[in-house]
Amino acid sequence: RPTLRVALLGAGTVGSEVLRLMRIHGEELTHRIGARLEVIGVAVRDLDRDRGEHVDPSLLTTDAESLVTQADLVIEVMGGIERARSLILSALESGASVVTANKALLAQDGATLYEAADRHGVDLSFEAAVAGAIPLVRPIRESLAGDRIQRVMGIVNGTTNFVLDAMTRTGADQAEVVARAQELGYAEADPTADVEGYDAAAKASILASLAFHTRVGLGDVHREGITEVTAEDIAAARRMGRTIKLLSIVERIVDGDEERVSARVYPAMIPDSHPLASVSEAYNAVFVEAEAAGSLMFYGQGAGGTPTASAVLGDVVGVARQRVHGGYGPRESAYAELPIAGIGDL
Ligand code: NAP
Ligand code: HSE
Repeated sequence: RPTLRVALLGAGTVGSEVLRLMRIHGEELTHRIGARLEVIGVAVRDLDRDRGEHVDPSLLTTDAESLVTQADLVIEVMGGIERARSLILSALESGASVVTANKALLAQDGATLYEAADRHGVDLSFEAAVAGAIPLVRPIRESLAGDRIQRVMGIVNGTTNFVLDAMTRTGADQAEVVARAQELGYAEADPTADVEGYDAAAKASILASLAFHTRVGLGDVHREGITEVTAEDIAAARRMGRTIKLLSIVERIVDGDEERVSARVYPAMIPDSHPLASVSEAYNAVFVEAEAAGSLMFYGQGAGGTPTASAVLGDVVGVARQRVHGGYGPRESAYAELPIAGIGDL
């Protein structure tokens, strides 16, 4: 079988889980792709940090620049803007396909990256950038490409949902719960990005750009975070049969013959009977409303190393198959893995 050389940028919350899953499911991935994935290096800042049994210390490097130019496939899970952008551009320019979870970069300068990927005829995939494990980017980009999306609305930040949920259930203090979200690997390196709504706004900008086939920048998104939400606000909402959630809404506004796009992120009081009110912990839930499909609901783990690594690896399989076969890959792989259980086995 052919071998694809993989460079991993970052071995933190997400990157270390990507390596663990690649290691334990290596054989299945080879089978599904029809090619072997060989991790040729892992770029980090600190070479001395203990990273556990799934990260081979001999693969660690601080020379990300030369690593990306030797790879067929680059996985960017280091975060940040300038360095990540320059590494992704080098990777694309040298003909590597790229998988990234970096919503902040995509929202700020996605156009430059898409343009470079198109120019060099390689894939740039980013399912993990929005709503963690939930398949949302691909359904909007591909499954609904023949429809007309009117609105995408829901909870797309796990940290703030975790914080509001804990404040609602236990009356806990916001700062204390944010620290817990950091420990659990839900929060961004700087959790201000979560609590001030920047992360949700970045995701809203990506969703709006995909859903409405137009460029919606971070600055086009009206943004309010949850830092002003107090225990008293939550208690008052409870008395009214409502729950406070950080909502992200992107929609097509039709005004006579004119159409515009609105994108906004803000804490809202939701009736307890609404499905979004019962979304707990770091889960996300998103409604996509399309002209022909009607209303679709997407729900699942919206943050954390393992769920996010699932989305990253889904993209890795997709771009690897594209490189090796120009499409889905060996059809027989869908039939080879498991025998069928009889009804008596259940
Ligand atoms: P993290 O735990 O802070 O890990 C970042 C990793 O990147 C670390 O290994 C760090 O090296 C490395 N790194 C950072 N800057 C670097 C640089 N300039 N050069 C080389 N290596 C560098 O972050 P994370 O939570 O895994 O998130 C990574 C990305 O995934 C971010 O874009 C984030 O927005 C996105 N994401 C995260 C989640 C989540 O739930 N955590 C979900 C979806 C998307 P050291 O280990 O040496 O410090
Ligand atoms: N910090 C982000 C969140 C990670 O809490 O939703 C997932 O994108």
